[in-house]
Amino acid sequence: MSDLEEIRRDFAERLSLARGAAALQEVRHDFLGRNRGRLTAFLRALKDLPEAERRTAGAEANRLKVEIEQALAAAEDPAAESERIDVTLPGVAIQPGAVHPLTLVRRQIEEIFLEMGYVVEDGPEAESDYNNFTALNIPPDHPARDMQDTFYLEGGGLLRTHTSPTQIRTMLKTKPPLKIICPGRAFRRDTPDATHSPVFHQVEGLAVGDGIGLADLKGTLLVMGRSLFGQRVQVRLAPSYFPFVEPGAEFSVSCFICGGTGCRTCKRSGWIEMGGAGMVHPAVFEKVGYDAERYTGFAFGFGIDRLAMVKYGIDDIRLLFDNDLRFLDQFRGAS
Ligand code: DAH
Repeated sequence: MSDLEEIRRDFAERLSLARGAAALQEVRHDFLGRNRGRLTAFLRALKDLPEAERRTAGAEANRLKVEIEQALAAAEDPAAESERIDVTLPGVAIQPGAVHPLTLVRRQIEEIFLEMGYVVEDGPEAESDYNNFTALNIPPDHPARDMQDTFYLEGGGLLRTHTSPTQIRTMLKTKPPLKIICPGRAFRRDTPDATHSPVFHQVEGLAVGDGIGLADLKGTLLVMGRSLFGQRVQVRLAPSYFPFVEPGAEFSVSCFICGGTGCRTCKRSGWIEMGGAGMVHPAVFEKVGYDAERYTGFAFGFGIDRLAMVKYGIDDIRLLFDNDLRFLDQFRGAS
């Protein structure tokens, strides 16, 4: 064993001094060479040792041989050594992401309306008071402003309380006819709980042209409801008030879980309330310079957080905003 240690030490020293291919070749000969290799001689002499010693010395000598071979190989071709691929190393696990449930729902809605010839529009989250309220027929001091607790920004702007201001932006830059939807974020000063979040998501819809009527609105909502929840679903409009439409309505879809007989999801009513809708108020057309005598149009708006919640059985809206991977991972592969 001490002979082996000596060989190991001597080899290390010789290797550290060897410069260039010829010198390395010399070292290789001196330790591994068939004739004058010191380790070769040692291995050859093993056969004269008693059985027990031969085993341990043999194992150690072979280990040293591998060591020396690797050290020489690395010295002879350092590039090859560093590029060596160790195929026994564990692989790098790829962690596929999951599409957020709100994104899934938004994409689905976009597809439904693109198929009906709508254009997807985008609008800023920081809006003017004028676009968010006044142009939508909600003048200053109008009581409807109280319905929407607003985050005001320094300098007079605000965080849009709904996606409806995109109607105004689109009409200001486009001549009729038009059909748009606008998915996006909206903000209200709500205290977060299981069903409220100060940031939430809506989709706004607007169609303006010649001879558009309430039946077109209902038919459009029916197409959407059935695409989202199945062909058996019905849509219901009930009178309601929004300053920017006349008549105004709230719309619901029959519960796709119980089929309308009443269950937990629809709170025993058989209907799932979706949002607001109506025929665009002439005062809004006037604000954007559309001829209110000639054109008519419908508009609708609804929240998609709750829609995603009923669709995927999510019981707390805050889960949509927490970015908890244990929650989000569950949507891997979902559609
Ligand atoms: N903007 C309304 C809200 O946030 C929803 C809405 C109601 C939008 C009626 C509309 C509409 O376009 O016609 O509550």
